[in-house]
Amino acid sequence: FKIPTTKNEPVLNYLPGSPERAALKEQIAQYKSSEMDIPMFIGGEEVRSGNTVRIFPPHEIEHTLGHYHAGDETHVYRAIDAATNAKEGWEALNWEERAAIFLKAADLISGPYRQKLNASTMLGQSKNVYQAEIDAACEMADFLRFNVHYMTAIYNDQPASSPGIWNRMEYRPLEGFVFALTPFNFTSIAGNLPSAPAMMGNVVIWKPSKTAIYSAHILMELFREAGLPDGVINLIFAPGPVVARAVFDHPDFAGFHFTGSTGVFQDIWKTIGNNIHKYKSYPRIVGETGGKDFIIAHKSCDAQAVATALIRGAFEYQGQKCSAVSRAYLPSGRWDEILSYLQKDMKEIKMGSPEDFRNFMNAVIDEPSFDKLASEIDAAKNHPDTKIIFGGNYDKTHGYFIEPTIILTTNPSYKTMEEELFGPILTIYVYDDSKLDETLNVLDKTSMYALTGAVFAKDRAIIQKITKRLSNAAGNFYVNDKPTGAVVGQQPFGGARGSGTNDKAGSMLNMLRWVSPRTIKENF
Ligand code: ALA
Repeated sequence: FKIPTTKNEPVLNYLPGSPERAALKEQIAQYKSSEMDIPMFIGGEEVRSGNTVRIFPPHEIEHTLGHYHAGDETHVYRAIDAATNAKEGWEALNWEERAAIFLKAADLISGPYRQKLNASTMLGQSKNVYQAEIDAACEMADFLRFNVHYMTAIYNDQPASSPGIWNRMEYRPLEGFVFALTPFNFTSIAGNLPSAPAMMGNVVIWKPSKTAIYSAHILMELFREAGLPDGVINLIFAPGPVVARAVFDHPDFAGFHFTGSTGVFQDIWKTIGNNIHKYKSYPRIVGETGGKDFIIAHKSCDAQAVATALIRGAFEYQGQKCSAVSRAYLPSGRWDEILSYLQKDMKEIKMGSPEDFRNFMNAVIDEPSFDKLASEIDAAKNHPDTKIIFGGNYDKTHGYFIEPTIILTTNPSYKTMEEELFGPILTIYVYDDSKLDETLNVLDKTSMYALTGAVFAKDRAIIQKITKRLSNAAGNFYVNDKPTGAVVGQQPFGGARGSGTNDKAGSMLNMLRWVSPRTIKENF
């Protein structure tokens, strides 16, 4: 059996005069001039609680984009009932029929939904045009198409039989519902977490981050337009603790698909553990929970390539990627050269509204995030071990803007080398060229995370040595490239240690978590 090749969605360039640029500008203008009323979506019905909350762009906080209807406990129970009612019909479909719905959704993204997803992500989550395109359009379409590719492989993977005996494997959905709790920083991850389990025949309760409800609504409309039956994915906007109480107490809770903070994931894992006697089966727990991602450069590196990777890896989407570079270990013998490239390139960074396509950086997601980042910058301004060598300013008068900031530290264990900040702050430690081994030891021990990392070197033996020495320090490891921007189908994504269960989003491993196989032996 051979699985057909699946192709990645081409990335459009949005250059002046291009049709995609005109279409995107038009979509942005339309969203900006209409205050959208955003309902929950339960059992095929739009549900309006009347308890509305204002949505605004993080970069233009006075502007109202729309309102969403916040839910309460009753909506969570209603969503669970709707999912339970939909389960039998959804399971009864052939997997090819389910796949067809999601392939159609991917094609709608190549077509009319591309600019809806991009514009809602740019305005609602303050993401620049290129970052929106590779996320909301390309990665979302890729998740859908590649997951169909992997499901094809799974359903066709059958055990051996022998004369008189026929063995087969039935890839049943989980016995119950799946709960998807999704982040603000990638629209594609928000769409993948409910759709991957749904593809494998599960019914889903989906709670998006309250800071990404605008694009979540567009994703839900996409799934509906692609033909997703009522009740298969139910979108609710109740507060996290309210949803958690109802979902994790329920005997039909069967799986959890999560991307978000380590603290939330660990608390939820404990809650699931405490309730384990209530469930029919051991729930599947799949989570990706952040990183403290690194670049280590060797003295044989290309200095310009290191500077470019630092800037792109640390400041694209304001550093709000779990994969963002936030600590770097640079060789003393090459530091002056790397610094001079940083000085040249940092000057080029423009920050402002994503509506101006020249802005590389936009606002951070919300006020709590802004306040935390500002206080970390202030702490570094006043600490004897640190010096701010770029940026360090912030302003929330009209939007949550934090300047791209680079901290130089003499202490490789300074807190911003260790803790995830989720913002545009990079900390650099310059190591003595002769102390590579000690530096690798410190790097490996400093943080509890192990999501992404990169080595820059031209010396092949050094590349091999560092790759081996850091084998547990990152689930996605890059040689002479920035450690962000994994492409679905090409670099399956996820990490271990404090970074998650490493079930690699957009892979067969992930899709296998959403089935409970039954082996059938038949004698003739
Ligand atoms: N998958 C995203 C990246 O690789 C988080 O940057």
